[in-house]
Amino acid sequence: MSETSRDRTGDATREPMVVIEGVNKHFGDLHVLRDINLTVGRGEVVVVLGPSGSGKSTLCRAINRLETIESGTISIDGKALPEEGKPLAQLRADVGMVFQSFNLFAHKSIRDNVTLGPVKVRKQKKAQADEKATSLLKRVGIEAQADKYPAQLSGGQQQRVAIARSLAMDPKVMLFDEPTSALDPEMVGEVLDVMVGLAKEGMTMIVVTHEMGFARKAADRVVFMDNGQIVEVATPEEFFANPRSERARDFLGKILTH
Ligand SMILES: Nc1ncnc2c1ncn2[C@@H]1O[C@H](COP(=O)(O)OP(=O)(O)OP(=O)(O)O)[C@@H](O)[C@H]1O
Ligand SMILES: [Mg+2]
Repeated sequence: MSETSRDRTGDATREPMVVIEGVNKHFGDLHVLRDINLTVGRGEVVVVLGPSGSGKSTLCRAINRLETIESGTISIDGKALPEEGKPLAQLRADVGMVFQSFNLFAHKSIRDNVTLGPVKVRKQKKAQADEKATSLLKRVGIEAQADKYPAQLSGGQQQRVAIARSLAMDPKVMLFDEPTSALDPEMVGEVLDVMVGLAKEGMTMIVVTHEMGFARKAADRVVFMDNGQIVEVATPEEFFANPRSERARDFLGKILTH
């Protein structure tokens, strides 16, 4: 792929899925998103890197409107983010989000965690939702645990359930915000494997992670943020071998020598 097709306006060979234009956000005096422009194509995997406090989580949260923005526009699959109400609930269902903490419903079985959204939001029949849950749990390697409760599962297993739960809604985009940061090291791989599988199947993904192996293996592009701005957008090969900005070089120096 040519250099120009991978610039910050997006990959020209792909249909746009997430389009972020001129987005700004403050928390009080703090300008946390500064004129963010980014287009993520259908089926594209974008890894967002950057130091703590650079705005990565805020950007993810803005994409499914868990955070409001002050200016600019964000659209998903050609539709601008709705302000509120039913259209917003619909949009949220189209944008799966997996956080650092698993946020499973503690008093519901693993299967019911996965079927709840499809039944309540998508109005699927329970039997149909159950069937889909079984296949999704199989896909993330948890089918044997379907009748257990979240507390009976390891962190890595719970995070895989959280991914299955998002997938049950047939999202158009999946956002991941440091999905492996809270896991014991031996469980990181099993979650990343599921994510690599999803990427290979063509899911559109925006992934905030410090797992450079994942970025190298699965990312089409790396977005480097610092101080609320997108400082660099490059392929993983370009970014890791030859970061253009001093800030990215400094960041990579710190994490790679850890
Ligand atoms: N609800 C909030 N109210 C006030 N300030 C906030 C709020 N959420 C985030 N911030 C601030 O906004 C900035 C960006 O935060 P954000 O969580 O997006 O960073 P991040 O890049 O995800 O960092 P980390 O790598 O530590 O997760 C930080 O300075 C943070 O302290
Ligand atoms: Mg964060």
